[in-house]
Amino acid sequence: MKHLLKLLDLSKDEIIEILNLADQLKYELKHNISHRHHLEGKTLGMIFQKASTRTRVSFEVGMEQLGGYPLFLSANDLQIGRGEPIQDTARTLGRYLNGIMLRTYEQKEVEDLAKYSGIPVINGLTDFAHPCQVLADLMTIRELKGQFEGLKMCFIGDGFNMANSLTVGGLKVGMSVSLACPEGYHPAKEVLEFAKAYDCFELTASPQKAAEKADVVMTDVWWSMGDEGETEKRVKAFKGYQVNDELMSHAATDALVLHCLPAHREEEITEKIFEAHADEIFEEAENRLHAQKAVMVKLMS
Ligand code: CP
Ligand code: NVA
Repeated sequence: MKHLLKLLDLSKDEIIEILNLADQLKYELKHNISHRHHLEGKTLGMIFQKASTRTRVSFEVGMEQLGGYPLFLSANDLQIGRGEPIQDTARTLGRYLNGIMLRTYEQKEVEDLAKYSGIPVINGLTDFAHPCQVLADLMTIRELKGQFEGLKMCFIGDGFNMANSLTVGGLKVGMSVSLACPEGYHPAKEVLEFAKAYDCFELTASPQKAAEKADVVMTDVWWSMGDEGETEKRVKAFKGYQVNDELMSHAATDALVLHCLPAHREEEITEKIFEAHADEIFEEAENRLHAQKAVMVKLMS
């Protein structure tokens, strides 16, 4: 594994190895066992073309805990903001840094950065994928449920980056995956192509059907970063695609509810369900730190 660009590139074993290391790093952190030796003297550049709370802070703190140096690079202050091609930025940064994390729009940009920089590249979210988030989600599911086998995960909402990565990650580790997405908001073709080899994959328009006996209920915002001009249209399209009491009555009684955050209360999830599952949701947010540290150790040490 040279980069983390999308979960489609990883084998089941590679995903499990990352999760095992993430569990170990979490244990070490909780028990004050230093792991600063892993990335001593290494620098991670972090380029953000979109806003972030969790990704920025967890990468920055994680890099510091591993003994390395995190360099925050706002796209507005870089020459890419003024049109310098990604190939030239990549070939320059590859000579200064030991790894780059990029949050951007097009998946092609992270793929190009990997192709031209010659150093490990981590996808910190694109329109196509959010692999770091889903590694943390899988870590949380295994931590709280003990295993993946026999579990059903459902996702209610927009077939965008989170739905794409959850489908691939969930199926690869052995869960059943049911998605409920409205017409016009289905996951990417590449993901559906991958998923069709699995009998335990389902795409439906019915949130209740997707949630039937689900062990893990997941959702994401109705409008993602970049969709701000479409809020009115989307509020109509996603009506009914909400994680609420009625939907949860179809899920297993001990179902987890996870959310990548930020959450829009009373849109994709009610305040009541969000608060009832807040411990799970913020464990998931914490696990971003541990899962990404594991990715950085695998790629950069
Ligand atoms: N879930 C997630 O990626 O959060 P941020 O947008 O705050 O980084
Ligand atoms: N789908 C959301 C996820 C945010 C972490 C977005 O892309 O804005």
